[in-house]
Amino acid sequence: MSKVRINTARTKGIINKNIYGQFAEHLGRCIYEGVYVGEDSEIPNTNGMRNDVISALKELDIPVLRWPGGCFADDYHWRDGIGDKDKRPYMVNTNWGGVVENNHFGTHEFFELCSQLGCEPYITGNVGSGTVQEMRDWIEYMTFDGDSPLANERRKNGREKPWKLKYFGVGNENWGCGGSMRPEYYSDLYRRYQTFIKNYGDEPIYKVACGANADDTDWTRTVLEHAGKLMDAISWHNYTYERDWQHKGSSYAFDRDGWYLIFADVERMRKSLNEHIATMDCVDKAGKVDLAVDEWGNWFDCMPGTNPGFLYQQNTMRDAVSGMVILHMFHEANRRVKMANIAQMVNVLQAMVLTEGERMTVTPTYHLFRMMKGHQDGTLVDTAYDSKPYEVDGETVPKLSISSSVKDGVLTVTIANTSLDDSEQLEIETDCDFTSAEAEVLTSDNMCDFNSFDEPDKVLPKPLDAKLADNKINITVPKMSVVLITLK
Ligand code: AHR
Repeated sequence: MSKVRINTARTKGIINKNIYGQFAEHLGRCIYEGVYVGEDSEIPNTNGMRNDVISALKELDIPVLRWPGGCFADDYHWRDGIGDKDKRPYMVNTNWGGVVENNHFGTHEFFELCSQLGCEPYITGNVGSGTVQEMRDWIEYMTFDGDSPLANERRKNGREKPWKLKYFGVGNENWGCGGSMRPEYYSDLYRRYQTFIKNYGDEPIYKVACGANADDTDWTRTVLEHAGKLMDAISWHNYTYERDWQHKGSSYAFDRDGWYLIFADVERMRKSLNEHIATMDCVDKAGKVDLAVDEWGNWFDCMPGTNPGFLYQQNTMRDAVSGMVILHMFHEANRRVKMANIAQMVNVLQAMVLTEGERMTVTPTYHLFRMMKGHQDGTLVDTAYDSKPYEVDGETVPKLSISSSVKDGVLTVTIANTSLDDSEQLEIETDCDFTSAEAEVLTSDNMCDFNSFDEPDKVLPKPLDAKLADNKINITVPKMSVVLITLK
């Protein structure tokens, strides 16, 4: 029996709800087929968005959605995606499989998607191959309420009022697919492009500069030194693999090593996140710039027989358990991490939802995000526990990861057990008088189990026994599981 002590009087910052953000790129079957099927599709839809997918995603209370990329963003020209769909030009999606993109999903469709999901839009502009004028015009088209040719063009295309656009990214991975730039060069471009992001609406646009990949703190430092005063946030991308980019591993046919290696990479991610935050603390001493982890998640080999450019992978308990450990990591780093966007929402990488024709299934990662939504905008509180660590690939991996937050008098406690062998009996004690406790668990018999279209309920949350007495709960956390306890 291990003891967990939750001290709600010791607060540790606010968990920004945007940490539970999503990302949808014009990549593979994320947008087309996954989210958007068009008004004339036989798949039931509302204004082209599939009803089954939207209704599942609404359960997650998605706070913010990033679009149109990813690498696609720096090859995207927004004018191609407005107006009469039949007249929209085609383009080749050079980043993702070389498929032809018909631009039927564009600015108006993206805002429609956000409105159906009830989330804030986060748009990434094109720095790599787009002009400053193109970016400034897009902002005016979307957000200007007055009488201007661009605002009137928006009206002609069916949208009278400007949209509310809070978050705007100035390029994506400009060190790589977004232009192969050096950080000094990008910093100057950032300074220039952001000058023309004008605030037409009441609320200023929150500007996100392109940040580093993985452990490249030199990029973070240089961009902050040259342009830090002109941004609200800098991004950071970190994907987790079994070994590395060349040896990603299978998403559904892995062995014990494959399970544990992901948790070792999660610990490397933790070190890297701490290094980026230390770098930010050094340059931005006043703590004015936020960190937006606007791409993260497990990246495995794509499913056999699928287009390698489509990044379609399966999703198991390994994704759910490692996802919780990473989200807890963001909770702890809430001083700087104000947004995170898992890659990606549908049919790509560590997805919430998978589709095949008219069929749909939700993944273990989907269940994780639903179980954790009580943390959104909650106050992180001190949670003390012992967790026997183990060594994997030179990293010290904790067996348990526990995080607790309070919101509106409700205490949300989430627990990940990374062990493939041992359940854990916990006695959880709080300093507060709660009168009811409910718990649920997500686990499965086999570490490689996933939800298929034929067996969509294979990995499903179930109620878990949790009796509350004298502000204590005794609970058994099964091996390879995630648990949610809600105390009121
Ligand atoms: O999410 C897939 C790709 O990963 C994105 O397009 C890119 O930004 C990153 O390299």
